Order: sequence, then structure tokens, then C-alpha cells
Amino acid sequence: MRQLWPAGPDPAPSAGESHAGLSHADLIGRYERADRSAPWLRVNFVASADGAVTVEGHSEGLSSPADKRVFGLLRMLCDVLLAGAGTVREEGYRALRLDPERRRWRREAGLPEVPVLAVVSSRLALDPASPVFAEAPVRPLVITHEGSPADARRRLAEVADVLIAGDAEVDLAAARAALTERGLTQALCEGGPQLLGSLLAADQVDELCLTVAPLLAGSGAGRIVAGPGSPVRRLDLTQVLEADGNLLLRYARP
Ligand SMILES: NC(=O)c1ccc[n+]([C@@H]2O[C@H](COP(=O)([O-])OP(=O)(O)OC[C@H]3O[C@@H](n4cnc5c(N)ncnc54)[C@H](OP(=O)(O)O)[C@@H]3O)[C@@H](O)[C@H]2O)c1
Repeated sequence: MRQLWPAGPDPAPSAGESHAGLSHADLIGRYERADRSAPWLRVNFVASADGAVTVEGHSEGLSSPADKRVFGLLRMLCDVLLAGAGTVREEGYRALRLDPERRRWRREAGLPEVPVLAVVSSRLALDPASPVFAEAPVRPLVITHEGSPADARRRLAEVADVLIAGDAEVDLAAARAALTERGLTQALCEGGPQLLGSLLAADQVDELCLTVAPLLAGSGAGRIVAGPGSPVRRLDLTQVLEADGNLLLRYARP
């Protein structure tokens, strides 16, 4: 993996690496935020060059070793990982676990070994016995609203902390404030498109990490955003990495 922008000298191979390119430590430096006290919401998606968010209904067909590397790194860096219930269901999310090296990095950084998974849902069509809850190393959060089904809420409360934000729909600004109150300032959203649409409508997105895969997926799949509309907003392009034709773009709120 190499950095295309901002332009600079290509890093030399790190000790133990046989190929030139960004080492694990280099990559941490490219994505770590200096001030963890300031709340920040980063979104991470992969799309094809023609804008598709899925191939045959999943993101796997768009991903690559470089995308997976950054995906894992961003998980390591966050306090809380937000995912829409649709993504949890469609992508078959399992309990949020990190490998020993990433857990060690977090311990040494003074963070809990594993971030908290927070699932956003209105209908609460989530199975409390599914591995994402039943095998979670850290009690997950379910973010919902007052109007969600009370019985499902009670069942999920046995395996997760249920955070209520909003009356008839999830108030994502209030949910973020509640996460910050719990010390979960660095949020990573892994999607999906409906959740991103809602976050944009609530003006909650501070950063977009987007992998553009060198693929033409053709028609059929949606974009990375769905659901409610939102005003057009400008972002600053802060970084471009490249690996095997994949562009790993980083945009931030100005
Ligand atoms: N390419 C990528 O990087 C990427 C990333 C993620 C997902 N995906 C793909 O995206 C597809 C899923 O798309 P999607 O738009 O359905 O995903 P999604 O946003 O994860 O799921 C939608 C569901 O999540 C819950 N939800 C989302 N926003 C909410 C809000 N503001 N308030 C309350 N509940 C909210 C609702 O769950 P309830 O129905 O339970 O109320 C809603 O039905 C999958 O095919 C997945 O593979 C791709």
C-alpha cells in the first residue's frame, strides 16, 4: 500500500516486511486521531468505480486485502462501532472481536481491549441469541427509539444495553451525545446506506473513508447512501492511498 496524496517519499520497508509500502505503524499514523476527547464520527464504506455498494447483495465482492486491512485498523481505533440492523443482518455480523496484536495496541493506548458494537434499529428485528449478541466479548448497545416494540426491547435488554434516543424515530444527534457521555467519543460507522443517509440528514458525519474498488459492478446495486435526503455538503480530501488499483480515500468535514 502506498500513499499517493499528500505526496511524499515512499516509506522504506519496515523491519520484517518484505515489500515496500505502508507498515502497520505507518497506517496507524495515517488514521489515528490526535485528540480522542473531541467527538468524531468516521464512516467507512467500499464501493465499485461505478458507485455500487454491493455485488450480489454483499460488500465482500468489492473488498480487497487493502480494504480489509484498513477496515480492521479503523475498528481498532474506534471506541464504538455503529452498524445499522440491516447490515448486521445482511452481512451476518458476528461478535466484535479483534486479533491479539490489535488488542495489545488498544491496551497500550489505554483503551478497553475491544470497542463497543452499537446496532441501530427501529423494528428491533434482531435475535438476542445470535452470535453478535450472545458471544460478544463486550456488552453491545442497541440504539432505538421510544416507539420501538417493547417486547423486543425487553428481550434485547438481556444481552445488550438498550439506548433510547427519540420518540418515533432514532434521534441520531441525541444518540451520539449519549455515546459521548459514556466516553465513547470516537465513533466508526460501517453502514449501511440507510444508516448513512440518516446520519447525513442529522449532520453527524465528520469523516468518510471510502475504498473505491477497480470494478464496474453494473446496474442494480444502490449507492453508499439511501433513505432521507440531506443538503449537499463539501468535504476536504485529506488522504489518498493506493493498493492493487484500489483507492483508499479519506475525506473530512472542513
Ligand atoms: N459496501 C459497503 O461498504 C457496505 C457497508 C455496509 C452495508 N453494505 C450493504 O448494504 C446493504 C444493507 O443496506 P441497508 O441500507 O439496509 O443497511 P442499514 O442502514 O445497515 O440497515 C437498514 C436498517 O437498519 C436500521 N436503521 C438504519 N438506520 C436507522 C435509523 N436512522 N433509525 C432506525 N433504524 C435504522 C433499520 O433496522 P430495522 O429494520 O431493524 O428497524 C433499517 O431497516 C447490505 O446489502 C450490505 O451488504 C455495504
